[in-house]
Amino acid sequence: MARLGVNVDHVATLREARGGKEPDPVAAAVLVEMGGADGLVVHLREDRRHIQDRDLRLLREIVQTKLDLEMAATDEMARIAMEIKPHLVTFVPERRQELTTEGGLDVAGNSQRYKDLITLLHQCGIAVSLFVDPVIEQIKAARRVEADCVELHTGRYANATGLKEQDTEFEALAQGARLAYKLEMAVLAGHGLNYRNVRRLRSIPEIVEYNIGHSIIARAVSVGLERATREMKDLLR
Ligand code: PXP
Repeated sequence: MARLGVNVDHVATLREARGGKEPDPVAAAVLVEMGGADGLVVHLREDRRHIQDRDLRLLREIVQTKLDLEMAATDEMARIAMEIKPHLVTFVPERRQELTTEGGLDVAGNSQRYKDLITLLHQCGIAVSLFVDPVIEQIKAARRVEADCVELHTGRYANATGLKEQDTEFEALAQGARLAYKLEMAVLAGHGLNYRNVRRLRSIPEIVEYNIGHSIIARAVSVGLERATREMKDLLR
């Protein structure tokens, strides 16, 4: 059974919409763990548009499963990660204007930067994942800079309009997963996944963990966060 990491950024987005204290992503973390999640995922953005430093500190204390901190490859974020010591750091690209993370990292074009940061985090006992498109060159580069895992970007698969386009994107993910597995990296996947499109991916055995946010928080509006998490976890069986 694949593991499920639940991204609670959108709980914080709702809180920030009113600038108050509710809903609290820290309280949400307790509920998703009760729903069977295997980990919590948060993205601390440079502009702090949703998750705040306070959330990260509290989550590090209360999360009983695994905390995956998504962040940009900046010195400020590396300093925060070394202080908080999450179980996993996932480097993601970050552009100020974007609504959400848009593409994968260019690891091949910036390999020295990633190598330096990964070495630093490894010295603190923190494992590192790189969020990449399912592109051979990027997956090989992730291995070269000694990443422990890759998270394959499923956005293009999720946004595919016709069956033919979905088939192409599915095949890219399947091949990417096989290559990353062969190169001895753990294979995660995420972005844009929901209760429908996640099913097909279950036939890719190399993917051991899914990181899902928006669709679970959206479903939780109707059925509650614990149940929404449990329903997704059941789909990954
Ligand atoms: N994985 C990564 C690296 C992400 O940046 C995001 C979005 O923050 C997700 C997974 C979750 O995406 P979604 O909210 O579309 O499920």
